[in-house]
Amino acid sequence: MNRPKEKFYITTPIYYANSRPHVGSAYTTIVCDVIARYKRMCGYDVAYLTGTDEHGVNIERAAEKQGITPQQLVDKNEKIFRELWKLLGITNTEFIRTTEPRHARAVQNLVRRTQERDRALEPSQRAIYKAKYEGRYCIYDNLYVSDTAEPADCQICGRPGELVSEENYFFRLSAYQEKLLELYKSNPHFVHPDFRFNEVKSFVESGLKDISISRKSIKWGIPWPDDPEHVFYVWYDALTSYMSGIGFESEDPQKRAEFERFWPADIHAMGKEIIRFHAVYWPAFLMAAGIELPKQIIAHGWLLFEQEKMSKSKGNVAYPEPIVRVLGNDALRYYLLREVVFGQDGNFSRESLITRYNADLANGLGNLANRTLAMIERNLHGVMPNFGVSGSTAETFKGENLGEIAQLYGRFEFSQALEKVWGLVAACDKFLAAEKPWTYADDPARREALERTLLTAADVLRIACVLAHPVIPDATQKIWQQLGQAGKIEDVRIDQLKWGELKSGTKIGKPEGVFPRIDKKEALERIETMENEIRNPGSTQPDESTTTTKKPAEGANTGTSAAGTTAIPAGAPGAGTSPAAAGTAPARGGTGAAAAAASGAGAAATATAAGAAPAVPAKIGIEDFAKVELRVGVVKSAEKVAGADKLLKVLVDIGDEVRQVLAGIAPSYAPEELVGRKVVVVTNLAPRKMRGVESNGMLLAASAGPDGKAVLCTFAEEIPAGAKVK
Ligand code: MSP
Repeated sequence: MNRPKEKFYITTPIYYANSRPHVGSAYTTIVCDVIARYKRMCGYDVAYLTGTDEHGVNIERAAEKQGITPQQLVDKNEKIFRELWKLLGITNTEFIRTTEPRHARAVQNLVRRTQERDRALEPSQRAIYKAKYEGRYCIYDNLYVSDTAEPADCQICGRPGELVSEENYFFRLSAYQEKLLELYKSNPHFVHPDFRFNEVKSFVESGLKDISISRKSIKWGIPWPDDPEHVFYVWYDALTSYMSGIGFESEDPQKRAEFERFWPADIHAMGKEIIRFHAVYWPAFLMAAGIELPKQIIAHGWLLFEQEKMSKSKGNVAYPEPIVRVLGNDALRYYLLREVVFGQDGNFSRESLITRYNADLANGLGNLANRTLAMIERNLHGVMPNFGVSGSTAETFKGENLGEIAQLYGRFEFSQALEKVWGLVAACDKFLAAEKPWTYADDPARREALERTLLTAADVLRIACVLAHPVIPDATQKIWQQLGQAGKIEDVRIDQLKWGELKSGTKIGKPEGVFPRIDKKEALERIETMENEIRNPGSTQPDESTTTTKKPAEGANTGTSAAGTTAIPAGAPGAGTSPAAAGTAPARGGTGAAAAAASGAGAAATATAAGAAPAVPAKIGIEDFAKVELRVGVVKSAEKVAGADKLLKVLVDIGDEVRQVLAGIAPSYAPEELVGRKVVVVTNLAPRKMRGVESNGMLLAASAGPDGKAVLCTFAEEIPAGAKVK
């Protein structure tokens, strides 16, 4: 009998909609998404809520500054949040805006419930009462900074608090000190990490003061029930979104049932500066209303940029969109989860992001996938053989406990989980280097050994993809398909993963690179150009990457990666940029191969790398095409060029002579794989030296798909070396 799935409910804080999100805001959402995806892969039915915090003085003032209404401002920004979450592959199941009527109804009813319970109590014990408030208030963090009129600065942002003097509704927080301490005692994991929990306990132990939960002087908020001169204090309003977002007090019975199923929240996740609101105020508000409490509050540190907390008001923000467009969605997710130890502050830098991308994603997982799949395609006719590999894989990698790696996600040790997965990738690289399957790929007597070796590598790839899927969902799904595995990788149980369960006998998908190598300088330039455009719209030249909604990897390809991955440069390194650019965006003119041969110059590469859309080239006459001499070549030998990780030195027979050509295909082909292969050679390019080695010609390749992996042009039928290609 099928047991119903257990539920799991996770929330992000709702984001202030006074400005657009930056990488710091994206961090909380990505962390929650990784947890949500992980829990689904453990068999849970997951609800994941995010949303926007749209009330308060800071919104009112930001709108005033822009000469628009608060509603117009939040409508504009809310869209940007939603679009960004889509771009980042966030799998939230719900989105709540605090300006929605369903939310106002929930907030008002929460207070009504509290007042209802209060009726049975003496006035001096009631949770909600009216009194005069005088104190300092920070409009940016919505924090009551002090309860006297004396000037005082905000503890979170350091700005001076504004004087507030008015009659308010108060919440008797002081009466909840003991109850909260009991809650902490009976739930030793209520706040994670422990050191944050200790801060919370000390705060509560030092005594709690009642807090004002309404404001009279502002208009942009939810009116107090039956007393509309007051609006709700934004934190009372905002915290209630965790319930209104999943159907609390909904008019729709189906939504109410959803609330019954998913409440209480299993995890409220947030940055460290807002723990107090969640671990102190929120449980007290709920206790007063007689509602079950959330199970756990988890807090991460801050992303620091230029030594300070990344924040719009400090002006030191990086935006996620340009990064995603240049490097892809997975790159940002991977970097943040790998680089920042959850719970601690972490530095963000675009340089280290690109370095990680190239080292771990392009050269690590991406390269392992390319090599393994290409060898299966070439040497095993693209079919996973039909015999068990469990013995061999389990033996080679038996030191790795897969269950333990998966559990690291459950303990929020994301960085450690990824380190382990990349440990497997490195171990597999070592295994292949020792095994050297390409040396016996053509030896029929060693066919079984070849199958075992490649299946072992494929099995490691499968395992690495499942384990990394919560963090890099796009690439892992692609590799999954390329491995010929059925269904969606997200449906695989990450907590039941075993070695040797690769589905064999299947035809593998088309091997395509998932992480093209990126040229750091070019990528930085493109990211910065797009960032400037976000900061000062209209300040830069129209840039295809900022104006299209192209898939991220395409953005990655068009400008930056090709020099590294698909270049087949005889002359300029830029010559290789063209095939990839043209291959992925044919509208720009020409097929990859033809464009590569015809242009062969760095100029085209530079134009695309800078992000500017190149002019559509004019049509060329046949006489122009005839200037390019193309011949069939047969590869005699190939080897790596010392000091250049992308280049191979290829000796190629073109009929009447053997040419030496340098080709930037090392990320896609092992030298041994090339020997005997028929290729297309541009034979009349002027010779040129790279790394002190002469290149006398160019090999044609296409870059298939969005990822720019070089695929050499070849021939299906017999044709002798030296034959003209025209
Ligand atoms: N609106 C409140 C939350 C109400 S929840 C009931 C709020 N909004 S916020 O937009 O300022 O912050 C939302 C989240 O973004 C918080 O988790 C915050 O910690 C996170 N971050 C904002 N800047 C950040 C960094 N520089 N680094 C990491 N996280 C950061 O607070």
